Amino acid sequence: MSYNLLANKKGIIFGALDPASIAWKIALKAKAEGADFTLTNTAVALRFGQLDDLAEQCNAKIIPADATDIADIEKLLQESMDHLGGKLDFILHAIGMSPNVRKKKGYTDLNYNFLNKTIDISALSLHKLLQTALKMDAVNQGGSILALSYIAAQRTFPDYGDMADAKATLESIVRNFGYHYGKHNQVRVNAVSQSPTPTTAGTGVNRFDKFLTFAQELSPLGNANAESCADYCVTLFSDLTRMVTMQTLYHDGGYSAMGMTPELLDLIHDTLQSQQNKG
Ligand code: NAI
Repeated sequence: MSYNLLANKKGIIFGALDPASIAWKIALKAKAEGADFTLTNTAVALRFGQLDDLAEQCNAKIIPADATDIADIEKLLQESMDHLGGKLDFILHAIGMSPNVRKKKGYTDLNYNFLNKTIDISALSLHKLLQTALKMDAVNQGGSILALSYIAAQRTFPDYGDMADAKATLESIVRNFGYHYGKHNQVRVNAVSQSPTPTTAGTGVNRFDKFLTFAQELSPLGNANAESCADYCVTLFSDLTRMVTMQTLYHDGGYSAMGMTPELLDLIHDTLQSQQNKG
């Protein structure tokens, strides 16, 4: 069902790679809610991903950009405004990549060149985007900029590696830049902290399938999928949430507020006890 929540709104959507991407679902939902936007990703992702299909479905122009490169961001913002016919109302930052996680380098054996890349791509790119957009006055008053995060920014998830540090930095940028952008031009900056979701980035994390099962069992509503994330994100682009800013908003079926469930407690206890009995 569509509510026309984003009628007359213009935006940019980063991070759609293939139909499993969270950004892919957000693009489809934003289109259904009446938005016009451009799509962007790196040149490599455009070569190997499937963004052309999405662009066709959304009647959207694709503008390549590396989100760590200021010149690319400037070009993207300017071309998007030219193409869409005015300043922007929303931007989705759905970008994450860790060479350490990809190469299975754990948190106590980080390659620091890789770590710099992780932080630059997954966190500083948001600052670069916000700073460039502010300087270019590219976003309308009341506009909404949204990044995607994960609870490892706040709690320890050993397998998430250096992405945990990147997400903690990302959420800090959301708070700190959110202040400046709010004061300057009433622009809102938030992060949605999403359940584990089977995407290219998600499944790169060690033990991802087990993460998914554990979160599913711990969350009273179960895991939030990419489609429900898209529903939530369009409300955050809309005027209905015009006073929400500088927040990390959990979209996780209740996971972040849980401690334990009786079922998991019994399962862990019984498994350990049976191991001890065997030993
Ligand atoms: P995905 O792999 O579909 O999307 C990640 C995107 O980042 C890709 O499109 C990739 O091309 C893009 N990217 C990488 N380097 C880039 C650069 N230098 N410039 C521009 N774009 C670049 O995976 P997913 O899961 O949809 O990721 C989207 C966001 O959601 C990420 O921030 C991720 O950390 C976050 N997230 C994902 C969760 C999951 O379990 N999948 C859970 C919570 C948050």
